[in-house]
Amino acid sequence: SIDKKVDSVMKLMTLEEKIGQLNQYNGFWDVTGPVPKEGQAAKKYEDLKKGLVGSMLNVKGVKDVYALQKIAVEQTRLGIPLIFGFDVIHGYKTISPIPLAEAASWDLEAIQKSAEIAAEESGAVGINWTFAPMVDISRDARWGRSMEGAGEDPFLGSKIAIARIKGFQGDLSSNKNILACAKHFAGYGFAEAGRDYNTVIVSDEILHNVVLPPFKASVDAGVRTFMNSFNELNGIPATGNKYLQRNLLKGDWKFDGLIVSDWGSINEMIPHGFAKDSKQAAEIAINAGSDMDMESYAYVEHLSTLVREGKVSESTINDAARRIIKVKFELGLFDNPYKYCDEAHEKATVGKPEFHEGVLDVAKKSIVLLKNDSNLLPLKKSGQKIALIGALANDKTSPLGSWRIGADDNTAISVLEGMQKYPNNQLMYAKGADVAVGRAQFMWETKINTTDKSGFAEAIEIAKKADVVVMVLGEHGLQSGEGRSRTDIGLPGVQKELLEVVYKVNKNIVLVLNNGRPLAIPWAAENIPAIVEAWHLGTQSGNAIAQVLYGDYNPSGKLPMTFPRDIGQVPIYYNYKNTGRPTMNEPESVFWSHYIDEKNTPLFAFGHGLSYSKFEYSNLMLSSNSLSKNGTIQVSVVLKNNSNVAGKEVVQLYIRDLIGSLTRPVKELKGFELVELKPFETKTIIFTIDEKLIEFYTANNRWEAEAGDFKVFIGGSSDKTLEANFQYIK
Ligand code: IFM
Repeated sequence: SIDKKVDSVMKLMTLEEKIGQLNQYNGFWDVTGPVPKEGQAAKKYEDLKKGLVGSMLNVKGVKDVYALQKIAVEQTRLGIPLIFGFDVIHGYKTISPIPLAEAASWDLEAIQKSAEIAAEESGAVGINWTFAPMVDISRDARWGRSMEGAGEDPFLGSKIAIARIKGFQGDLSSNKNILACAKHFAGYGFAEAGRDYNTVIVSDEILHNVVLPPFKASVDAGVRTFMNSFNELNGIPATGNKYLQRNLLKGDWKFDGLIVSDWGSINEMIPHGFAKDSKQAAEIAINAGSDMDMESYAYVEHLSTLVREGKVSESTINDAARRIIKVKFELGLFDNPYKYCDEAHEKATVGKPEFHEGVLDVAKKSIVLLKNDSNLLPLKKSGQKIALIGALANDKTSPLGSWRIGADDNTAISVLEGMQKYPNNQLMYAKGADVAVGRAQFMWETKINTTDKSGFAEAIEIAKKADVVVMVLGEHGLQSGEGRSRTDIGLPGVQKELLEVVYKVNKNIVLVLNNGRPLAIPWAAENIPAIVEAWHLGTQSGNAIAQVLYGDYNPSGKLPMTFPRDIGQVPIYYNYKNTGRPTMNEPESVFWSHYIDEKNTPLFAFGHGLSYSKFEYSNLMLSSNSLSKNGTIQVSVVLKNNSNVAGKEVVQLYIRDLIGSLTRPVKELKGFELVELKPFETKTIIFTIDEKLIEFYTANNRWEAEAGDFKVFIGGSSDKTLEANFQYIK
């Protein structure tokens, strides 16, 4: 068995060699160039030869990976292979939509396929471990990393986490699969005020019912690695959090894979005010259950002293080393350390046409039709004059989005290119205005004048001549992601003004949004007849958008995160608590939970998304009004496509537990099904409700179902549902 094999290696290892396995170095140096003689690179190189490195990150390409693996295998005493980690977040070179966009597809098969493509392509360049999926729940659109997760809902987030893990890891003995990593454990998405790395304070109830479920689902799906997190959680940095890592993850959940720290997060416990120096940080982190140190140098520097001083036990080191060695066995690296190092395979695999087809497919599925008044969309394919406006319409880098460090700039299909494939219309293009980028502009080294309106005139001129205006506006791909939180989530720069001036001369506008987070665009939602949410859709972005605009693909995406009317409503999410003074409508007096200057309702609700088909729901029925312990009830609804266009609809099931030992949300997603309907077809959709589905983390500090009254809702959006009642009798 693998455990016996691990034992046989462990027996040979010195304490120093075991500690070496817990050390992960970043590999940003010319690894196939001359041997580094000084600085950090020289130290890393020396440590590598001494067997003091267990893993490297950010090394890519078979040549480089091979060179380092060869040192580990041939020059160290025991020849233990390295594992190579990389942030393959939504593709390596062939880029899929950003994860938030993919979540909008609610299509688990497509999401799994996208992860399979990413695994195969990155595996071919020597990588065998991705730091994905990010399974953090996010309720705050200000947070730049919202783009990297599955949105605000723990049920949807858990299903998507499972799909991604299956896609990445599949069969680990093949070189088409790589290790996945559920991150960031835990609470990172709840950073105060949406500011990245900020303090996190969440109650036990929210932690267990909202934050943790996708992590638990990841363990159950067999994820082999976890990453902890930069943030503190209720006063304790996640990296030094024993409750999370030892008690819960490795204890209650029986996770037997490895936990890697986030970049430098062990040493970050010093500025957090939790450790006085790197040595104490190492002690806290290892004792709390962090197995591998990413770039803090704390383990390799201090762990052997800490063991000698009795502050860290040898069994703690053994446990951490065992987990890492075990994963290396599971990957098959002890049998063939060069399993991922085949240059011919690399050449034949990277950028394969099948990958492009795959990412195009998921890109189309990720698009959400937010509004389509008077059926402005789809566009007619001939005889039309189309004005295409916006810097983002002609951008081949922005659609790649954030976190696509293996891909080259200028490799995405732009909307302009996508639309040029429909030659029977007359297409005119004007930039109009640049995208404002704030501080993120330093990341792509362009100095952009964010207030320049000199392009407005040209945009107005082509809009005047056009039958329909398509405006591609929003955020540049690098305006979301790590370290890119925003306080203003409207259209950056002068884009809103551009939209308004164009609207004055032509009201037939299709607004195509590019963004890595929900945006607050109340003026556009009120005035612009058609709005298409196109996120950052990756390499095939422009083709996907054009096919949707022209009706060659009927959109079926649904929002995985609530769009606010105003930044002041954030955090805003559909599964909120009712309060003692609830109101979603006009309050009768001042003393209701509301704003005096804005509605409580969102601009676009969680689960919202239109189609070129017209879906109608009717006849919500329950097989019984009472659910008994160990029993089930069926809830059904009739869905009709009342149009002559074939289409797909995400049918959503929500439940409300009316009274709880802890207050319960007004609605919680508990099921969904992607249903395909031919023109005028009708189908009955059936969901099964059982006790498991209504369990939550109760006042007894455990998951259980409480007897009482429930409501069940089915619909095409969290805010448009039919409903019925049932009872649960224990
Ligand atoms: O994987 C990432 C993590 O999400 C944020 N910090 C750096 C890590 C490695 O690049």
